[in-house]
Amino acid sequence: MYIGIDLGTSNSAVSCYHRGQVDVVTMEGGDNILPSVIYMDAQGSKLYGQRAFEQMVLAPENVASGFKRLMGTSTELTLGNGHTMTPEQASSDIVRQLLGQVFKAFPDEQVEGCIVTIPAAFNQMQSEATLRATRDAGIQAVGLLQEPIAASMAAIADGELNTGLFLVYDLGGGTFDVALVQSVGGAVNVLDNLGINMLGGRDFDREILHSLVVPWLKQHFTLPDDFLKGADYQRLLRIARLATERAKIALSRSESETVFVSSDEIGTRDLRGEPVYLDVPVTRQQLRQLIEPQVDETIELCRRILAKNGYQASDVDRVLFIGGPTKTPWLAERVADQLGIVADITVDPMVAVSYGAAIYAESREWGDDGTARKSSRESVEIAEYALRYDFPSRTSRDTARLKISCAATQRDALEVQVDCTQGWTSGRQPLDGNTAIRLPVAQQGENHFRISVFAADGRPLTDASKQIVILRTHASAAGIPATQTISAKVVEMDGNIASNTLEPMVDKGTLLPAEGTKSFRAARDVKSGSNDYIALELYQHAENVNDPEQNLSVGAFRISSSDLLPGMAINKGDEIICQWRMNDSGILRVVIDVPAVGQTFDTGHLYADTDGHRNFADHDGEALLTGLLDEANAELKQADTALGKMARSDIRHIGAAIQEQRRAAERANDPEVRRGISERVRALRQDLSQLVNSPEHRATMLHGRHTDLVRAYDREIEGGNMPRDSERFRRMADSALEELKRGDEQALNDAEQILNDMDATVYDLMTERPEVVVSVFRNLSEKGATAVDAERHARLVKEGQEAVQKNDITGLKGINNQMFNNQAQHQVHAATASEIAGLMRG
Ligand SMILES: Nc1ncnc2c1ncn2[C@@H]1O[C@H](COP(=O)(O)OP(=O)(O)OP(=O)(O)O)[C@@H](O)[C@H]1O
Ligand SMILES: [Mg+2]
Repeated sequence: MYIGIDLGTSNSAVSCYHRGQVDVVTMEGGDNILPSVIYMDAQGSKLYGQRAFEQMVLAPENVASGFKRLMGTSTELTLGNGHTMTPEQASSDIVRQLLGQVFKAFPDEQVEGCIVTIPAAFNQMQSEATLRATRDAGIQAVGLLQEPIAASMAAIADGELNTGLFLVYDLGGGTFDVALVQSVGGAVNVLDNLGINMLGGRDFDREILHSLVVPWLKQHFTLPDDFLKGADYQRLLRIARLATERAKIALSRSESETVFVSSDEIGTRDLRGEPVYLDVPVTRQQLRQLIEPQVDETIELCRRILAKNGYQASDVDRVLFIGGPTKTPWLAERVADQLGIVADITVDPMVAVSYGAAIYAESREWGDDGTARKSSRESVEIAEYALRYDFPSRTSRDTARLKISCAATQRDALEVQVDCTQGWTSGRQPLDGNTAIRLPVAQQGENHFRISVFAADGRPLTDASKQIVILRTHASAAGIPATQTISAKVVEMDGNIASNTLEPMVDKGTLLPAEGTKSFRAARDVKSGSNDYIALELYQHAENVNDPEQNLSVGAFRISSSDLLPGMAINKGDEIICQWRMNDSGILRVVIDVPAVGQTFDTGHLYADTDGHRNFADHDGEALLTGLLDEANAELKQADTALGKMARSDIRHIGAAIQEQRRAAERANDPEVRRGISERVRALRQDLSQLVNSPEHRATMLHGRHTDLVRAYDREIEGGNMPRDSERFRRMADSALEELKRGDEQALNDAEQILNDMDATVYDLMTERPEVVVSVFRNLSEKGATAVDAERHARLVKEGQEAVQKNDITGLKGINNQMFNNQAQHQVHAATASEIAGLMRG
């Protein structure tokens, strides 16, 4: 038996492939989906699924839901009475529940393999967390598959069209994915995918809540201004959110609904002692207005994926709708209309993903490190007659080709006939050396054929006769592409000017499993007995955004002097060879080979101690967002000053979006919302960076930076009577200007390097000044939320405060450095500040 699990933000489902047939497993209570919800009572006993969901109104504080959105972070879920769980443990519990139902339905079956689906936009940390959660639930043979691939396998298995180009539009509770999928005879090939990690039905609920329900509450009751954040009203808000979701779903069937909850159920009073209830009318039209911008964002992404791959809407045969929100009638209509592509309605949007995952699980050969495609060719040789039969042992098509080759001497001396147990026969045919017979593969599962061979006189040659089996599969995946480019941070040198950039290691779209070797060189020495180290730092590399700071860090591995054998040293320029392997679940492993010291380092699963350990809850979460938004604003200002009129409308657009995220951050009281905001801000910064780096704007932008730097130098350094080497600075400024005038790509690269150096000079000189050293310290002190080691941070803050009191500026500088190194890398501003990579291109 093979299992396919759709571990969803709102709902989960499980299907089994068993004796050539796929079944969606029924849950307790008869539904075929399990709400991904957990309830825990005071004693620690738990309820799951629908029964937990029902507790949401009675005891919302004891219920956890939506935890998929926090996978791969350190944010804890609170379940009342002091009980907490990690998102991973909660997911593991849901998987255990699903498996329980499977074993109830198929008590005597062995599990050969289990596939769990993930959004295509999941990063390495989220994927690894999902794998661990499933293993913890007791299944070891686990693989991951992207949700859109699973969905298309389901559609192709059951639809009429098994050849064509499809767009899979998957809008779930938490994420949006779109994939462009080609199928040839049931073999699915994903051409490209894009996604928004944080857009789904839950966001629609929130939109209605904030735009309609909260204003209604304020109008009808006396509530404190900040009641959204007040602990006294969290119960009310959770109940309101649930009732809002119910009304939203009901609006898929009716024109108007009411968000209704009685005061008894809510059990909260307002400031004047009035019992609070909800009775908020909502119409389909209002809902539509509220969520149209988000729906249009998804349509935009669909257009982008087509354009990017050189297709037009008319090339696409169908758009498949997956996920609960696509059951909103006007939503699916709007998407199909706007795109001008026919909607496919053959699949059940709630269970197609698990169904496809089960089909995929069966199609794989299960090994120790992930899975591989099952071989589908078979050959039978009959030496005595020099005969060979070649045929597919599995196919997703309804016919298969049997090729019979024989030695020249046998040609025309033999005859063959193929019969199917279901009655079909090929009739007798002479063998001409290269006979091909088309066999009907009429039924799903096993199809049995008998090949009979006859001598020229009609006598059957029993030794040459054979029974063969061809398995008709539902669909197969031709290739699983890597969903993101993973790159290593390297230093780029020009003369003695250094800056960081990214060097791709695994390209997006590479068919998995895949492996390769990437050579780097050490960019600095690592001497034994010192504090030196070099690190392989990996990033999820957004297209055309080459600054590591703008990308998501997904893993880091350090080789420190203490890892080296006694007396060994790595010297600058030594070869650092990275052998990487990404299995078909998208999990990356790297082995680092350093020939100069004769040592090999197995990085295990690379793990970022930055994002992975982020806590989006409470004060930490707030501080994290404030930091990110401040950085985005600073970058925006810089772009605006430099680009001026040229890109004003683009910049205004991005600026407005950043402000919107700031407003959202101010009212956010929930870790999942905060994480959504952090992802959006990163995407906006990437947009900005793409804008600034577009060839037409880059020169202007660099000019702007040049002016700013010269101004800063004049004002702060010259004007501040600082010790300096003005002549060197002027020389740099002049040569940067010359490069800018030349203006070709190489010249602009050179100019940028010089500007980085000028920037560093200004920064270095500035940081000589006591008041700057103190202000840098103050700034860093507030960055506790992004510190890698919180205890170390607290200790350094204390030491720093003492140094300030004693006016020990030199000491304080050292402390600043240590605090700086203790910051999650990409929180720290680029160019001047970020640590220069320890690797360079090989
Ligand atoms: N009939 C309906 N009309 C509109 N929305 C619906 C309907 N049924 C369910 N939903 C919404 O769909 C969402 C859940 O969809 P689904 O179960 O596909 O998500 P999921 O698979 O759990 O999430 P994801 O794939 O993002 O992890 C919820 O926000 C729910 O409110
Ligand atoms: Mg889903």
